[in-house]
Amino acid sequence: MMANFFGLIPAAGSGSRMGNELPKQYLPLAGKPMIYHAVRRLCSSSRIGGVFVILAPEDGEWGKYDWSEFADKLAVIRCGGGTRAQSVLNGLKAARKTSPIGDTDWVLVHDAARPCLSENQLDRLMDELADDEVGGLLAVPVADTLKRSDNSSRVKNTESREHLWQAQTPQMFRYNLLVEALGMTGGTAMTDDAGAVEALGLHPKLVLSDARNLKVTYPQDLALAELVLRNPG
Ligand code: CTP
Ligand code: MG
Repeated sequence: MMANFFGLIPAAGSGSRMGNELPKQYLPLAGKPMIYHAVRRLCSSSRIGGVFVILAPEDGEWGKYDWSEFADKLAVIRCGGGTRAQSVLNGLKAARKTSPIGDTDWVLVHDAARPCLSENQLDRLMDELADDEVGGLLAVPVADTLKRSDNSSRVKNTESREHLWQAQTPQMFRYNLLVEALGMTGGTAMTDDAGAVEALGLHPKLVLSDARNLKVTYPQDLALAELVLRNPG
């Protein structure tokens, strides 16, 4: 049987590095709250059957916007946890209570803070991994020269960038593998889903992306994201 595709958007963070009172997923970006762009990208894919947004239980922002254009695919679950990994794991378990997700169906976990994912990047991820044993993630080979520092911002040495990639999202794994992997590593500082899968001894595939799929982390990233969104292609 063909596996189905689902999207899961963890959006229960507070955006502490952004330094804004409003969680960054709701900051205005190209005329919409930032999370709108991630929601739209996943919901617009004809191959993705359902999209789950994972909010903090106390979220007071989501309801201020009209999401009815995505009503046929979108489900909102208020079960975010203390870490990204916990939010994803809680979301996976809760999603299954209301939707028929199979053990081997694919889940694409995508950060609300990556608003610039293109249709091409999303399609490439699904194309390259649809028959994969493990799954994988969008990533970019490191382009800059890498310096390791001492404690006073002095260069200790230059690191080789050979075989080094920057991990992005979406990260795409089968439902049962993701639940197992995140369940084992729940309490640790793992900042992505692939890391949890790697901890099981598996080797996720790196699918070539590019820098336009940036993550908004610091205030200056907002202007970059706006630029990418307004100049697609
Ligand atoms: N996230 C989440 N639950 C958490 C922490 C993060 O769902 N407990 C989500 C964020 O909302 C974001 C994604 O995971 O969509 C990536 O996390 P990150 O960019 O680190 O966002 P924040 O944790 O909100 O930001 P910061 O680390 O600066 O506080
Ligand atoms: Mg964080």
